[in-house]
Amino acid sequence: MQVLHTIAELRDALALHRQRGFVPTMGNLHDGHLALVKQARELVGPAGAVVASIFVNRLQFAPHEDFDTYPRTLARDCELLDAAGCDIVFAPSEAELYPEPQGYKVVPPGVLADILEGHFRPGFFTGVCTVVHKLFNIVQPTLAVFGKKDYQQLMVIRRMVAQMALPIAIHGGETRRSAEGLALSSRNGYLSEAEKAEALRLSRTLKALIARWQAGERDLPAMEADAMQALRDAGWAPDYITLRRRVDLGPAVAGEPLVALGAARLGSTRLIDNLED
Ligand code: PAJ
Repeated sequence: MQVLHTIAELRDALALHRQRGFVPTMGNLHDGHLALVKQARELVGPAGAVVASIFVNRLQFAPHEDFDTYPRTLARDCELLDAAGCDIVFAPSEAELYPEPQGYKVVPPGVLADILEGHFRPGFFTGVCTVVHKLFNIVQPTLAVFGKKDYQQLMVIRRMVAQMALPIAIHGGETRRSAEGLALSSRNGYLSEAEKAEALRLSRTLKALIARWQAGERDLPAMEADAMQALRDAGWAPDYITLRRRVDLGPAVAGEPLVALGAARLGSTRLIDNLED
């Protein structure tokens, strides 16, 4: 496996490979990320190149968020990627990826990007789309794999690729969880042992919301308010708990495939999760 830090080196290394599977990450890798790398390997075949990027993207962090403290563990990440079958790690410095202020940005439409995560993290999806578009231009992958853990992000990227006619097949990877059901996340490392146990409440709350819908209840605002209150009662500060239809993340409609999504702070750690019905 090669570990490359510049765009020029990466382009040289990739020139040999026509089929390229790409997994963008911010590092501090866990089994969720590695599952995406393995999926990229399966999809691209043994002759193709699997590329993972590791870059903590300042553009997608608000000033009060955890850009400075986000865990950076490149050496260990590279060992894990090597074992998972990755061929090339692209780990640029900030000066390499943003040699001048990134004034040109990819701004996703508000209908998809100003709701849910985008409502609570203004500008987040502009930061994500801008770096992913740039990484796509650098890697020029034939396919890329994104986790369903970041459900809205996957949807925003899919729409960007479609509207911009990028020749890249976007694949979704299932959310990896601990044996108890906690969605793996680099931010779980911020949690104390007691918080880790409590963190399971988020996915259980989403499950309970889906169960009420499946039992025939239809008063969504009341159901969502109950779910948020249950979290508050347990010491959380929820941003949203909501049931949406999968196709466009609009309000749930009976008979359509649905997804329950949630974001909430436990102590100082903000966690997100989702469950398809
Ligand atoms: P990061 O949070 O490092 O996640 C990288 C990829 O791993 C994303 O596609 C994410 O959905 C996926 N992932 C995270 N946890 C997962 C889990 N438990 N199971 C399956 N997949 C999981 O998402 C980002 O980085 C950034 O926004 C990025 C796309 C790299 C742009 O900066």
